[in-house]
Amino acid sequence: MFILLIISLIAIVTTWVVLTVAKNMLVVRALQKKLSKLHTIPAVPVLGNSLLFKRDSSPPAIFARMKEFHHIFGNDLIAQGLFNKPALQITSAAMVEQVIGAKTIQKSLIYDFMKPWVNEGLITALGKKWALRRKIITPTFHFKILEEFLAIFNRQTEVLVEKLQQQSEKGDFDIYKYITLCALDIISESAMGVKLNAQDSPSSSYVKAVKEMSEIIFRRLFSLGNEYKILFQLSKAAQRQKAALSILHEFTNSVILARKHQLEDEQLRKTTLEKMDETDIYGKRKMTLLELLLNVSVEGHRLNETDIREEVDTFMFAGHDTTTSCISFSAYHIAQNPEVQRKLYEEMVLVLGENFKTIELTYSMLQELKYLDMTIKEVLRIHPSVPIIGRKSTGDMIIDGQAIPAGVDIAIFIYAMHNNPEIFPEPEKFDPERFNEENCSKRHPYSYIPFSAGARNCVGQKYALLEVKTTLVKILGNYQLLPCHPKNNVQLKTDMTLRPVNGAFVKIIPR
Ligand code: HEM
Repeated sequence: MFILLIISLIAIVTTWVVLTVAKNMLVVRALQKKLSKLHTIPAVPVLGNSLLFKRDSSPPAIFARMKEFHHIFGNDLIAQGLFNKPALQITSAAMVEQVIGAKTIQKSLIYDFMKPWVNEGLITALGKKWALRRKIITPTFHFKILEEFLAIFNRQTEVLVEKLQQQSEKGDFDIYKYITLCALDIISESAMGVKLNAQDSPSSSYVKAVKEMSEIIFRRLFSLGNEYKILFQLSKAAQRQKAALSILHEFTNSVILARKHQLEDEQLRKTTLEKMDETDIYGKRKMTLLELLLNVSVEGHRLNETDIREEVDTFMFAGHDTTTSCISFSAYHIAQNPEVQRKLYEEMVLVLGENFKTIELTYSMLQELKYLDMTIKEVLRIHPSVPIIGRKSTGDMIIDGQAIPAGVDIAIFIYAMHNNPEIFPEPEKFDPERFNEENCSKRHPYSYIPFSAGARNCVGQKYALLEVKTTLVKILGNYQLLPCHPKNNVQLKTDMTLRPVNGAFVKIIPR
């Protein structure tokens, strides 16, 4: 009886695998016919392309292999996952423009791994829900509110400068660790109005839970059975995720409730206007994302606590790892390129004055630092914080006049686009001049998209650039950056964010 059960089970699983593989391979054939310019990455039945990763399946090796595919096979590729699930991996500007511009969008599987944390916040939301939320959230990044955030950037980066003193004149150290904590402090205060004090208490449970969740999302991305939630539910990581999520959600919930009560008290005492208007949003009142969400009405209803929590969590998630990578890689490249550092410093002295390390930086001051802007653009070219974004065809996505079948995953490999020698000659060379006006005007606008493009571009782009600029001005005002020993040169790995494997190493000496 038992043997019969096993045999039936094997027969069912085998039939399912054969049918799934056959169905997927038909879609691959259809794609090859429709998009005949695209090369197909060599694949085998059932395992798809996974054998190409078998030599070394560590995160940096996976990333290196993905880059290699484009060197060997070309800009736009047809790939196959487990059970030959078809996917496109694209890097050419014209094709990327068509995918990003598609009318109905769906995001690919990787975004599902964020959902336990951020649920359906702006980054994962689709359709009507997304459009409404985007309309609500966009005013958070009005330049008058950005000016208010600058007070937070100034204060927290001063703490960073103080913490970095521990490493001054001490040889190579990983600046990434310091920047992560500073970026967490900044986003927590801007999104929730809460001082997390991560720089003073790096081992707080919230900070640890953020790290734990990022790590779990990363591991799920590269596990072979990643699509099958049931396998994940049975794993130890699922237990760890549960524990981390309870810390993360409890923290945001408690902040939301505290602010909500505070606001209700204020309203009772008639110290706030009953209805928010333009002056409330952009005016004197200190505005955080949370304040905005608590005050807004959608079709006559306030957002409920779950709605608010998903947006606050989204900001905590999307708004600290990305800037951390950008600032850390900036420090690394500036240290490696003394001539760039000299020009940056000269520009800062010219625009901000000799004693700029102690001044309160303002929005307009930072706008004047043109060479700094070009340098950050070059950092986001060579090491884009978000190296891959994923979409899924809904069936009405048209590429080169051809409808892509529904369900096909499309990876836009931003990293490979930005390091394509046909567009950026000698891509490994760090050269901010690639971003002077003349050079920019020669390129296709979609050949450089660190913040994505179109309707779903990064809503926090301006905020991010101001944060990165403030941090770099404060660091360079106080320290000279020196290159690390070549044995510590940066190596890359990626999940949703591009990260250094062992760290971003630099040396610092006081100015
Ligand atoms: C250097 C820093 C940053 C980079 C390179 C970056 C890059 C990106 C990219 C490429 C996307 C598109 C993702 C996709 O289509 O799947 C995106 C979306 C998004 N980013 Fe950023 N980001 C940065 C910083 C920030 C910050 C600081 C915040 C919040 C304060 C933020 C919030 C978001 C949100 C909410 C979305 C989703 C927007 C939507 O779909 O409407 N990002 N970001």
